[in-house]
Amino acid sequence: MKIIFATGNMGKLAEASEILGQGFELVTPAQMGITEEIPETGDTLRANSLQKAEYIYQKTGLDCFADDSGLEVDALGGAPGVYSARYAGDHCSFDDNIDKLLGELAEHPGEPRTARFRTVVTLLVGGEPHFFDGVVEGKIAFERSGTRGFGYDPIFVPDAFAPKTFSEIGIEDKNAISHRGQCLRAMAAWMAENL
Ligand code: IMP
Repeated sequence: MKIIFATGNMGKLAEASEILGQGFELVTPAQMGITEEIPETGDTLRANSLQKAEYIYQKTGLDCFADDSGLEVDALGGAPGVYSARYAGDHCSFDDNIDKLLGELAEHPGEPRTARFRTVVTLLVGGEPHFFDGVVEGKIAFERSGTRGFGYDPIFVPDAFAPKTFSEIGIEDKNAISHRGQCLRAMAAWMAENL
């Protein structure tokens, strides 16, 4: 099945392709000629996920899905959360965000470094939204480890693979337990049953 994944993040695209497998052909907005940044101005993951999917649906009229994710760090009161992408400022890099997070956490010595990734995936079928949630628990490492993945992967240690980070375990193990893996497997199961 051919479907648009409303993302410009190649890391997310690689993971989704691996999770969904050969039954799906994922098309990016860029491949449809949509090259501008997709707006995400909501203050919840669900709102942003819906906003991204609706943006693409309005432009193309085609079924699509979007993912919005956030990293919640307990010692920081749940930050960066829904603001994870721009934590260190507009147009910041993944490295800028990691530096800022490690810097903030250094001001909370002795506190637990517990954290979790959450994702909400919105699937739009005929313009109707269907939501899928995923969460993975872990801890924030003191420094980066590993070279794979993207975003905060080099400092996120999922409980299931401690003390390795998402960047150290690689895409297959990450997908098996990740926030995004949970959502996309649930989405595929829903599609198999309902479409
Ligand atoms: P968004 O869903 O594209 O808004 O992503 C929010 C922020 O979290 C971005 O900085 C992403 O790079 C980061 N992020 C999202 N998913 C993951 C992940 O699976 N691993 C590491 N960082 C992630």
